[in-house]
Amino acid sequence: MRAKVTVVGSGAVGSTTALRLVERQLADVVLVDILEGVPQGKALDLAEAGPIQGYDYQLTGSNDYESSQGSDVVVITAGLPRKPGMSRDDLLLKNAGIVKDVTKNVARHSPDAIIIVVSNPLDAMCQVAKFVSDFPRERLIGMAGILDSARFRTFIAWELKVSVEDTHAFVLGGHGDTMVPLPRYSTVAGIPITELIPKDRLEAIIQRTRDGGAEIVKLLKTGSAYYAPSAAVAEMVEAILRDKKKILPCCAYLQGEYGINDLYVGVPVKLGREGIEQIMEISLSDEEAAQLKKSAAAVEQLVKVLQQNDYL
Ligand code: 2OP
Repeated sequence: MRAKVTVVGSGAVGSTTALRLVERQLADVVLVDILEGVPQGKALDLAEAGPIQGYDYQLTGSNDYESSQGSDVVVITAGLPRKPGMSRDDLLLKNAGIVKDVTKNVARHSPDAIIIVVSNPLDAMCQVAKFVSDFPRERLIGMAGILDSARFRTFIAWELKVSVEDTHAFVLGGHGDTMVPLPRYSTVAGIPITELIPKDRLEAIIQRTRDGGAEIVKLLKTGSAYYAPSAAVAEMVEAILRDKKKILPCCAYLQGEYGINDLYVGVPVKLGREGIEQIMEISLSDEEAAQLKKSAAAVEQLVKVLQQNDYL
């Protein structure tokens, strides 16, 4: 049977995600958006690229959730993007309302789906979606770590003038200014980058990774990144639908792992057909653990604001 993926939000991230999913030969895709005509128009345009690109998946655009019924995976990209100078956290209450409404509809029409949240501020929006849907943590995951790690990998490859294919990188923590790139676990062809890149250059690369989203918002002026975010989502959907059991950094609901409780934070997980099949607990140095704790505390601050505003 063909898999079915619904992408909520037909903006740049949503529509590029739909494109990547069919180009990777993964699933029929339903695009849902409240804007009349936009999901329909984008789905039609994507379908018409099929004969040239060589995919023959169904692409449907809709303003309601009927056609999303029974999806295997639902990707939530709905929400406002950042404007130059804004942090992801500035979007908190506006996007909480949107994600709450979307998640209610998604959970009603696809109660067995695996939900991937992409809307920002990511970790807090996962918390809202979990609260509204009451899905088990295995089936409610946030996309951030793959994107942040891809940015880190890009900068590592540029610094060392090596193929990006040789790079591996891990970024943990919240998808915000306190994210925790882990050089000790980041390698080029198996060699830790701490042995290849001098400390000051490494620090510059780490900071550029942390500022990666903002760097693009500043350049684009309207809207935020979408090529790399949609590629990261497609990687997650593929790991799930093809049951690849890939180890990927994702935003997961922690219940004691890393000493963190009842909070969405980025950690390495094993991703397969059941969603999160394992949360990998890697050993951290005191400094890395302190950074992760600080990052979790930043997410907790947002959770408190959501609680004060009755979103949780
Ligand atoms: C980014 O980092 C939009 O949060 C997204 O580009």
